[in-house]
Amino acid sequence: MTGRDATAGNAWEADRTPPPDEMNLPDIMTTFSGYNITTGTDWAAKRRPEILNAFQANVYGRVPKQDYQVKFSVDNIDEDALEGKAIGKSVTVMLSANGKSHNFNLYLLVPKSDKGPYPTFLGLNFYGNHTVHADSDIPISSSWTPNNSQFCVFDHQADEVSRGVRAYRWPAERIIQRGYALAVVYSGDIDPDFDDGFTNGVHALFSGERDNQSWGTIGAWAWGLSRAMDYLMQDEDVDRNKVAVMGHSRLGKAALWAGAQDERFALVISNDSGCGGAAISRRKSGERLKDINGNFPHWFARSFRQYNGKEETLPVDQHMLMSLVAPRPLYVASAQQDDWADPYGEYLSLYFAQPAYRLLGYRTRLGLQHPKVNEPVSSGQLGYHIRSGRHDVTRYDWERYMDFADLHFHAEK
Ligand code: GCU
Repeated sequence: MTGRDATAGNAWEADRTPPPDEMNLPDIMTTFSGYNITTGTDWAAKRRPEILNAFQANVYGRVPKQDYQVKFSVDNIDEDALEGKAIGKSVTVMLSANGKSHNFNLYLLVPKSDKGPYPTFLGLNFYGNHTVHADSDIPISSSWTPNNSQFCVFDHQADEVSRGVRAYRWPAERIIQRGYALAVVYSGDIDPDFDDGFTNGVHALFSGERDNQSWGTIGAWAWGLSRAMDYLMQDEDVDRNKVAVMGHSRLGKAALWAGAQDERFALVISNDSGCGGAAISRRKSGERLKDINGNFPHWFARSFRQYNGKEETLPVDQHMLMSLVAPRPLYVASAQQDDWADPYGEYLSLYFAQPAYRLLGYRTRLGLQHPKVNEPVSSGQLGYHIRSGRHDVTRYDWERYMDFADLHFHAEK
């Protein structure tokens, strides 16, 4: 039986994308110079660094190699957050480089019990930390915010009216109830999401000419997640060995890139991250490179544009981004109505990352068949679900992330 017959009704039948065995994906276990990787030592010394470098050179860009400093100030501790169920900490992360400075707020909610330190979810949000929960202690960012008439954000400045408007995406009470802490950062505090010529946000801290491999906004967000992690590493309520980085959509791309580079993240979660995130570019399904580079010219390195319409010439594909997370636990989620993010392509990245996990000693047995809607699968270090509904983050998604985190974080105890 051919691959097509065996899987009649599967995604590549319906959308006429290349079947997995004809996508010509770069082989994870062969170096760019043709050397075959067969040991974990070679993986760590040879293959992982060159894959990382190839993503910097061709996709997300490089962070400038310049000195910077990070300091923290805990500005406020709310002993009665979430109606007394949590402690809320408002932290300023202060960055400086080349005589310039830039701050962002990190808001941390930890369970109010004596069972700490707590495993923690860290995630960026789209409209400000104050949108994540109605709690009045969460500061409102003065950074540029996307206009949104529904949230009454005009003139790119958020105010009290948008407090809590995105709470459904961050079930804080439930996260706390399940024994986790939650840390949130507004993405626009790190780098505003518009094409400003890289003069604002953390880009502005670093001096020098930009080139084809300079970092874009996704690179900046990922770097900011690592600076948030710098803080979490030294907060005594946070279990520094159990921090999961999570993100939705464009912020899911950033979470994956942060998790790929920064091995302090113990677990990585992609929610509907799609093109330039979990989805395999060579599938050419849903959003294509020419779409993303055209609509969001500030997200990636300029060098990424050379692959517009020529996905098969990319030296990497997104399964290799997943392989950089190995051997740490990795969860990818899709939504059924989210064709733009190519759900099956998101799943296939996990599938094709398995050789890295196996080489590093973890059994995973994900099959080629796309899992059924609302039937999560988890095998070894990898987890996946496609839920019904649209491009979004729902309570269902969070429950699955916590189930997965329970499995990996609590088993080690
Ligand atoms: C657009 C974009 C996607 C992105 C999404 C989002 O749809 O094309 O790549 O993931 O916005 O961030 O919501």
